[in-house]
Amino acid sequence: ANKLGSKKERTLAMIKPDAVCKLGDILQMICDANLIVTKAKMTKLTWREAADFYTEHQTKSFFNNLVQFMTSGPVVAMELLGDEAVSVWRRILGPTDSSTARKEASLSLRAQFGTDGTRNAGHGSDSLASAARELEFFFPSTAGQGPANTASYSDC
Ligand code: TYD
Ligand code: MG
Repeated sequence: ANKLGSKKERTLAMIKPDAVCKLGDILQMICDANLIVTKAKMTKLTWREAADFYTEHQTKSFFNNLVQFMTSGPVVAMELLGDEAVSVWRRILGPTDSSTARKEASLSLRAQFGTDGTRNAGHGSDSLASAARELEFFFPSTAGQGPANTASYSDC
């Protein structure tokens, strides 16, 4: 913590295929929360990449649907920097299931741009340890690794 008691953190935010066309609105939400975008990459994940990213869920019943959705179009991965970035970004996202999110008083990102418990518009690291792993996944310190930095996007 610095002398004002704030704790600068970095987190991995990902805009999922169903919300890439809302990138402008989402950047505004990031800006309004005093977070800044320090890295960004648009990429179309391969099946293997998406399965690897979500490896903690590989035994879950929803895993195949999740990977199917995550490879259905481009995603935008961003490193966000700011005070308590991990929890601030999770709060902006809202509940995992977009239909649950829409029952809440405040309109979270998932409430506004997602559909259900799988098509839920965004991802955020759930801890500093996850953030370190997920940032390394998209923005590896080793040159030439990680998802390709190209994706064509037209469908909106
Ligand atoms: P999880 O890590 O539980 O949620 P969060 O994204 O809020 O950290 O689950 C990862 C993703 O898996 C979630 O964003 C959408 C998908 N998922 C399903 O498709 N069905 C489910 O029942 C759950 C819990 C998650
Ligand atoms: Mg999670």
